[in-house]
Amino acid sequence: MNRVVLVDAVRSPFGKAGSLYQGTRADDILVRVMRGLLERNPGLPLAQIDDVAIAAASQTGDQGMNIGRSAAILAGLPKSVPGYSIDRWCAGAMTAVTTLAGAIAMGSYDLAIAGGVEHMGNHPMGELMDPNPRYLAEKLVDPDALAMGNTAERLHDKFPHLTKERADAYALGSQRKTADAYAQGEIQRDLIPVAIRNPELGYGVATTDEPPRPGTTMEVLAGLKTPFRPAGRVTPGNAAGLNDGATAAILASEGKAKELGLPIKAILVNFAFAGVEPEIMGYGPVPSTIKALAKAGLTIDDIGLLEVNEAFAIQVLSFLDYFSIADDDPRVNIHGGAIAVGHPLASSGIRLMLNLARGFEKHPEVRYGITTMCIGLGMGGTVIWENPHFVGSTGKVA
Ligand SMILES: CC(C)(COP(=O)(O)OP(=O)(O)OC[C@H]1O[C@@H](n2cnc3c(N)ncnc32)[C@H](O)[C@@H]1OP(=O)(O)O)[C@@H](O)C(=O)NCCC(=O)NCCS
Repeated sequence: MNRVVLVDAVRSPFGKAGSLYQGTRADDILVRVMRGLLERNPGLPLAQIDDVAIAAASQTGDQGMNIGRSAAILAGLPKSVPGYSIDRWCAGAMTAVTTLAGAIAMGSYDLAIAGGVEHMGNHPMGELMDPNPRYLAEKLVDPDALAMGNTAERLHDKFPHLTKERADAYALGSQRKTADAYAQGEIQRDLIPVAIRNPELGYGVATTDEPPRPGTTMEVLAGLKTPFRPAGRVTPGNAAGLNDGATAAILASEGKAKELGLPIKAILVNFAFAGVEPEIMGYGPVPSTIKALAKAGLTIDDIGLLEVNEAFAIQVLSFLDYFSIADDDPRVNIHGGAIAVGHPLASSGIRLMLNLARGFEKHPEVRYGITTMCIGLGMGGTVIWENPHFVGSTGKVA
């Protein structure tokens, strides 16, 4: 098998749904991100790209028309480069990466582009969804399983020791880490500025994430309403928002990357997806991580950096709790996460990877890291990566 490497990954600034990118097409955001990725990797021979896989949870309109192929053409890739679309809801871009990685590992591909896009302003969650009545009639799932906020409330029910206060404190930490990372210029270097056209404000350029709320305090968080259940515990402050954005990454076989002199930001070790009860979909990263670690012959103690998608604070807490990791462990989401910067569904998997890659650069003493996320209808996905800059011996964050 060929080893698979992450050459580079970038993203657009994320916007609040239908705000920053109101009037900007989803495919235009994605195409700019793909162009930006190619521009900062001029050594990539475009005609040698074997495939393009782009994820979107909603695949209609400006996210339809086989966006994998149509975005490849719009991004100016040679017409000989094929493309396809992929969907695993929130883990779309993660699945684009793992699917392409499988093809690279077996030797069919040497170079590929993965990506994800979601314009939740243009495509509200659940748009055109037509769940089979059997789900509810045959009690295959509880109605809660179809509303992500309710699944998060269910996790609070399941783990009462993971209180709302702990969820709010976690959310505050995410905002603070993101604010610090912005202050140090850590996040900006992987953002591709995107031209925007607002029907009222005219033309502009999106350069920074719109959702972060650096001024958040515990007091404000404590006072927010709970939209999913009266007197619930999930609030707009401890959940990811509804967002617009896109991500893209270059994957290669290690041999091809070395032959072309391409940078190597992370080496793929293994991955796994797993299912849980759909009513507690946020618990998915627990079994997917157990499975991926077993496949890799590693334990959680070998993992020096973790990028856990923050769909909801409670969902991250339940993951950390299972693995006996403290809520504020410095290995976790070093630059904050989706609670602060947003979660444009199918795009987020690659945001986790680019953050992990930056973490690897900063922490050569760390050997392994994971990216993991929960997925609607009860799934989790975990990808284990090795740090190409590893020089230490302990494998832990110094
Ligand atoms: C939680 C959710 C319903 C909130 O939606 P929303 O009402 O559009 O959220 P807003 O950003 O407008 O926030 C609502 C209020 O909380 C306030 N607020 C939110 N976060 C805050 C923070 N960190 N600090 C202070 N105030 C905050 C806002 O200012 C707003 O106040 P206002 O009503 O006085 O203007 C929505 O973001 C959601 O569904 N998130 C989950 C998305 C999801 O399921 N993704 C898939 C995961 S699998």
